[in-house]
Amino acid sequence: MNELLENLYKNSPKLTQEYIRDVLKLTDHRAELVANITGGISLPETELLCKLVAQQRPEISLEVGLGYGFSALAICSSTPANEQRTHIVIDPYQEKFWKNLGLRHLNEAGYSDIVDFYPQKSYQALPQLLQDGVRVDFAFIDGWHTFDYVLVDFFYIDKILKNGGVVAFDDADWKSIRPLIRYIVTNLNYKVVGTLPEKHKRELIDIELGIEGSCIALQKISDKDNREIFFHKAFF
Ligand SMILES: C[S@@+](CC[C@H](N)C(=O)[O-])C[C@H]1O[C@@H](n2cnc3c(N)ncnc32)[C@H](O)[C@@H]1O
Repeated sequence: MNELLENLYKNSPKLTQEYIRDVLKLTDHRAELVANITGGISLPETELLCKLVAQQRPEISLEVGLGYGFSALAICSSTPANEQRTHIVIDPYQEKFWKNLGLRHLNEAGYSDIVDFYPQKSYQALPQLLQDGVRVDFAFIDGWHTFDYVLVDFFYIDKILKNGGVVAFDDADWKSIRPLIRYIVTNLNYKVVGTLPEKHKRELIDIELGIEGSCIALQKISDKDNREIFFHKAFF
């Protein structure tokens, strides 16, 4: 693992009170619960991300949700330094609530030249990237976690993901995110290429689909969309 990423885990910066109140909108006992976390991906998630990126060797990668930069450091440090590449990062709150620390960590690790930062909400930046004709090989979704936002993130990422490209979802065991992954695997041209062990008892549908854990990676297996207007497969 990259030395700066290791230090980031040791240093374990906490979420700011303002972020918890103004963005997460938590004021009850759950505000206290999240006050002790970094908001970054866990070590097993980092290991999975590093493995996927090393296999994929993306020329262009993208992530939604920078925070302090745990996942960004994992993604940037997992391809050989001599390879030509770009990492697109989208986060509207990097300056206001994360004090630009994610960007600073990427800079200190020597990745500022390959990072292309968009300080917008993902539903604003992703359509722009599509409009600009950007195509990516790897994407990581870890922004706003409600079903509608993750669906919109995936919708646009699907449009710009190359055939054979991989998209990974963080917090893939959340109730808001798991149904979307079930939908993609049953209804769209994607196959599961990365999971982590499930923490709780697995649902039958997830066993059938081969999905589990807090980070799930899917590979696009065809660019062709042959669905007719009535196409729909049950996914729960
Ligand atoms: C869980 S944190 C990401 C942590 C990061 N992936 C890491 O491993 O360090 C979620 C991030 O999503 C960002 N975010 C919140 N709403 C967003 C939106 N609408 N579009 C893009 N990013 C968003 C937050 O500012 C925050 O940095």
